[in-house]
Amino acid sequence: MRTIETSAPGKLMLFGDHAVVHDYPCIVTAIDQRMTVRITQVDNQEFNVSAPDVDLAEYTKPLTELGERDIPKAVRFLETAYRIFLERYPQENGIKVQTKSEFSSSFGFGSSSAVTAAFVWALTENYEIPLSYKELFDICYKTVLEVQGVGSGFDIASAIWGGTIYYVKPASVVEALSAEHLPLIVGYTGIKADTATLVKMVNEEKRNNPRKIDSIFREIGSITILARQAIQANDWIRVGILMDQSQELLAQLSVSSVELDNLILAARKADAYGAKLSGAGGGDCMIAVASKENAAEVKAAIQAAGGEVMEVLAHASGVRIESAE
Ligand code: MEV
Repeated sequence: MRTIETSAPGKLMLFGDHAVVHDYPCIVTAIDQRMTVRITQVDNQEFNVSAPDVDLAEYTKPLTELGERDIPKAVRFLETAYRIFLERYPQENGIKVQTKSEFSSSFGFGSSSAVTAAFVWALTENYEIPLSYKELFDICYKTVLEVQGVGSGFDIASAIWGGTIYYVKPASVVEALSAEHLPLIVGYTGIKADTATLVKMVNEEKRNNPRKIDSIFREIGSITILARQAIQANDWIRVGILMDQSQELLAQLSVSSVELDNLILAARKADAYGAKLSGAGGGDCMIAVASKENAAEVKAAIQAAGGEVMEVLAHASGVRIESAE
């Protein structure tokens, strides 16, 4: 029996938050905290999962019943991805899946997209199905839309391609940017935000006030294009200015929060080049860029304002096979 182990990274949105759902570009960086998935082909016709990091000791379902009944939250992405995979590439035998997380799912780093990408990549390796990254993306994005209903797929793209990418949905543009030296600082508000709720809230606002919201999205889109140039030029001062401008626009979308604002303000007061929320808003993480000399001071300021500094490295590598035995 073959055992395949794969891993995929979490992510942080740098620019283009929310606007990317509405077909504008975004910039996302993969971070050095990974989800690992290990799959083993078995003799029976069952799907068996253990995911101790999300308190799932064991879960078993016959292949003929995949997608049926209530699926526990912890396996929703895996079971949906597996069902979609088997519809395209039917197999006789089941599999045993084990997942391991390097990061807490509560930080909004994208554990669901990372686990989905790593899992489908492990399946393709196991069955020797040569998929391109775009084909892998399509299966994973279909999974996300089925489970979550909304989303731009930027997190899936980041988990697959890794590095720092300029992205337009649904992976119609994926352009690698050179951001190896991005001096990123990350602060967690301590509040778990629900992406789908926030995206739906913005959608609702767009329906009620299309002119205003479209104009905000357009501005976020223009900033993202400028940020792409600034990142390519490693001009972190400019990146900081563009982050501040983005934050203004996200605040106008009403997706910032008191906690995010406090951490962002604290980082700016400590002379960060700029700071903004990252992702859906409402809580989760803020990001800042700062000079090397100033980084410790910015981190201390974020902590003093009640945030938790997350030590993560940007520009991590994308989905990969860790071992195949
Ligand atoms: C959430 O992390 C980022 C959003 O842009 C949603 C998405 O792109 O799927 C708000």
